[in-house]
Amino acid sequence: MSADALVRASQPSQMVLNEVLDEIYRTGHVWDQQGNRFPAFPTSIHRQEGEVLYRIVSDLPPSRTLEIGLAYGLSSLFICQAHAEHGARDDRDSCRHTAIDPFQQSYWKDIGLLNLERAGYRDMVRFFEEPSHMVLPRLLQAEESYDVVFIDGAHLFDYVLLDFYYTDRLVRSGGLVILHDVKMPSVRKLLAFILRNLGTYRLESRYFLRAVPPWKRFTSTLRALLQSPTEIHTWSLPWSQGFADLFSRNFCVLRKVNEDSRPWHHYRAF
Ligand SMILES: C[S@@+](CC[C@H](N)C(=O)[O-])C[C@H]1O[C@@H](n2cnc3c(N)ncnc32)[C@H](O)[C@@H]1O
Repeated sequence: MSADALVRASQPSQMVLNEVLDEIYRTGHVWDQQGNRFPAFPTSIHRQEGEVLYRIVSDLPPSRTLEIGLAYGLSSLFICQAHAEHGARDDRDSCRHTAIDPFQQSYWKDIGLLNLERAGYRDMVRFFEEPSHMVLPRLLQAEESYDVVFIDGAHLFDYVLLDFYYTDRLVRSGGLVILHDVKMPSVRKLLAFILRNLGTYRLESRYFLRAVPPWKRFTSTLRALLQSPTEIHTWSLPWSQGFADLFSRNFCVLRKVNEDSRPWHHYRAF
């Protein structure tokens, strides 16, 4: 990354929200095609988290991004705004951003896609209305490669593990994997696996949202201890460097620094 990009990344965001995001964060609501109103939260990401997504994509040269879990489209709107400001529409790349969500129509009333349309970003998004475990193997078979992957789909442990398994094979070396909801035991367990076993990912502290005071670290540890009392590796994580910061928010950015080179029998408890 250039020195310029590093300086930009360390500065507070200068993002001016597009009109669709601005209205959603002002009102706390989204609207379907018929004008019916629905609360946008707690389903959708916080504005601060979205701005980090925007910064991440803005810091890269024109890139390819993948998101698992579209819902009302807020995270996609941040990502696509960054693409749009990089001229993605000009280069006519119709799959700059790929999004996956099996329940877009049935549960989310197509509001995610509608919001992308309203913001003028629909053309740069390729959308799969299927579960990620069906789509990701196909992307892998097609030898696709991504610069940034945002994992925010099903949050059961086996689902996030599978999402990560394929993501790891789809993200290029040097690319970023972002996990949402790291406060949830299932996602925290995945994170513990990645950091203790793989050795191929590094936490990107540049994108941490803010430092955590010691009392908050204490409460995070206590919560983790109560959730999984027998698993020292999980509940001791908040005290280690980096984890302290990421526990302040529900958001964690990992950079893939090398390819996997574990021996076949490798295993570390996590
Ligand atoms: C927390 S919401 C995503 C919020 C969105 N990223 C945002 O911040 O605007 C989780 C999404 O995952 C989707 N989902 C559930 N199971 C899934 C699966 N098997 N594959 C992909 N997405 C899934 C849900 O339909 C839901 O839209």
